[in-house]
This record gives sequence, structure tokens and C-alpha cells, in this order.
Amino acid sequence: MSKRNIVIIPGDGIGPEITAAVINVIEASGAEIAWVEHDAGLAALDKGRDVLPDETLEAIKEYKIALKGPCTTPIGEGFTSVNVKLRKTLDLYAAVRPVRNLPGVITRFRNVDIVIIRENTEGLYSGVENVVSPGVVMSMKVATERACSRISHWAFEYARHRHRKKITVLHKANIMKLTDGLFIRKSKEASRDYGDINYEEIIIDAGCMKLVQDPALFDMLLLENLYGDLISDLCAGLVGGLGVVPGANIGDREAVFEAVHGSAPDIAGKGVANPLALLMSGVMMLNHLADNEGREDFRACAERIKNAYNDALQEGERTRDLGGKLGTMEFADVLIKRMNHTSV
Ligand code: NAI
Repeated sequence: MSKRNIVIIPGDGIGPEITAAVINVIEASGAEIAWVEHDAGLAALDKGRDVLPDETLEAIKEYKIALKGPCTTPIGEGFTSVNVKLRKTLDLYAAVRPVRNLPGVITRFRNVDIVIIRENTEGLYSGVENVVSPGVVMSMKVATERACSRISHWAFEYARHRHRKKITVLHKANIMKLTDGLFIRKSKEASRDYGDINYEEIIIDAGCMKLVQDPALFDMLLLENLYGDLISDLCAGLVGGLGVVPGANIGDREAVFEAVHGSAPDIAGKGVANPLALLMSGVMMLNHLADNEGREDFRACAERIKNAYNDALQEGERTRDLGGKLGTMEFADVLIKRMNHTSV
């Protein structure tokens, strides 16, 4: 099979460390990939470029697929989020975040298997903020019929393809009657086309309580942008933390795969970050290429990687966030050894 060009964006903080580890593992799986490296975030600024350089965007448009490390966004000041800009510019409207228990990773619950679908382009994440008058500021929540309807249909299609049973919309339409009201109206409308999939709506505050009480009540969650952001981290906490939750940002043309977590400045440069969430995002990417471009060779590589990390975790070979002792590269090396061993 020919090599597939894929854009790789190392990002900031722990990004370069985990990206290097993940590239090693994916290459060891035998995946025929030519990595095309581009910068974004502080890494780009440090080189005197724009925070999201045109070349990076053009490369993603050309090759359609990117694997991305986390990018830092300054808090309360400075440039707007690279991540938001990337998702909006490329119209990567569907964020997909599967949250599952992993073998050997002991958490309060043993039965978590939830797929989060987050609308990625509007909501309170629009970043439209104004100073109304001195001492008074305002943030705008945007909802459009087009985006609400599009993400709802996308979620139901995903559910049908993956044989999921139920979609739950978490919302606050009792308070935000227009914006969240539109979101649930469009979701409900979409649900009528998918009689085989159950549909429910829960006000998000009560939904949070139910999630931490009994996550098995949920199958798929459909959320507007900000709720999707918050609930993703909450759900990560149900299965072992941010080190184990992957993600994909998918549009009609391009797809960018990245972990749910951020650049983790508190542990950056120490070689201790868990590369698993980004690696699992890479596995999603390989399966996406198998599904959309017929690259069955990539599906086999994805399976090899998955088996390697499931076995490693089961046998206690883990990074520190999961109670183990391994560093970022050590964990990657363990997976590579396991794959080499099984392919002999
Ligand atoms: P964070 O996800 O970077 O870190 C939260 C906590 O989880 C920290 O204690 C961190 O050490 C830990 N953690 C995260 N990933 C880990 C990993 N792979 N292995 C072990 N521990 C891990 O969230 P935080 O601190 O809120 O954000 C830091 C920066 O990241 C901010 O600038 C934020 O804007 C950015 N960010 C970027 C995202 C992206 O690029 N998609 C997503 C979320 C945040």
C-alpha cells in the first residue's frame, strides 16, 4: 500500500513529548504514513508565525487528515484559542469523544461506555464578547438552525452506524429558551427520522448528577459546544482521567484527531505525560481512514495498537496518572515491544 500523507501538529506543553511517543507507536504498528509536520499555537508564535499559520491550514486542506497535540490558550487575555479557530475555519462541526473503561484501570465504575458528540462551531464558545459599558461585559451565545440540525443528524447517523441505542441531549433550555430551546427542537426533529434509536432530553444540572451516580444510564450524549467541553472532562474522570480519552473533530471535508486534554503545563517537559489519549485518537484516525478510504491495512494497525495498550494496561504497565511508574517514552516503548513480539 502507498504511504498516506498525514499532517502532524505537535502543539504546546506536553504536546511535543506525547506526539513523538505516538508517532513511534503508530510507525511500529506498520502503518504506511508519511508525517507532514506543521506548527500551531505557541510553537508557531515562537517561530515568528501566526498562531494558526496559513501553511498549517493549507496542509490540512490538502491532506484532509491531521493528528494534533494540544495547544495552549492564554487565560483571561491574549490571543483567541487556536483550537476554536481551527475547528471554525475548517468547519469541523462534530467532536466525537468515546469514553470507556480500560482493562486494568480501576475506577469507581466498571460499565462506562459513552460516546459524546459535541457541536464544535457555535454556542457560548463563539468567543463573541463585548464591553457594554465600563465594568459591564457580555458574552454571546449563538445558535443557528443550520448548525443545530446538522449536528443532530450527524449524531443520529453515527448512532445508527455504530449500533448505539440511545441519544441523550443535555441542555439548559429552561433558562436559555431561545438558544438551547433551538438545540433541543432540532434534536427532537432529527430523532423522528431515526425510530430505531431512543431519544431523551435531560436538563444538564440533573444530567451531571446522574452521570456521576450511574453512568450506565447513558449511551450517547449530544451537547452544544460549552456543555460538550465540560462534560467531556467530567466523563474522563469516570474512566481514569484525561490521559485516556481520545477525540476527533470531523467536518464534511477534513478531520483533525486530538485528545480531549490540554497542554498540561504543570507536567510539561518532565517526560511523565500519558500519551495514550493521543494514541487512541490516532487509532480513531486509522479506523476513519479505513472506513472512508478503504485502507484496511490501517484497520489492522489500529487493532495491533489497541491490543498492545489493552494488554499493557491489564498487566499494570502504565504511566503515573494511572498509578503506574512509566514515563511517556517508556510506555510507548512497552507498546512497541509488545507489537514486535506478537508479529514474530
Ligand atoms: P489540561 O487538560 O491541560 O490539564 C488538566 C490536568 O490533567 C492537569 O493536572 C494535567 O497535568 C492533567 N493531564 C492532562 N493531560 C494529561 C496527560 N496526557 N497525562 C497525564 N496528565 C494529564 O487542562 P488545563 O490545565 O485546563 O489547560 C492547560 C492548557 O491547555 C490551557 O492553555 C488550555 O487552553 C489548553 N487546552 C487545549 C486543548 C486542546 O488543544 N485541544 C484542550 C483543553 C485545554
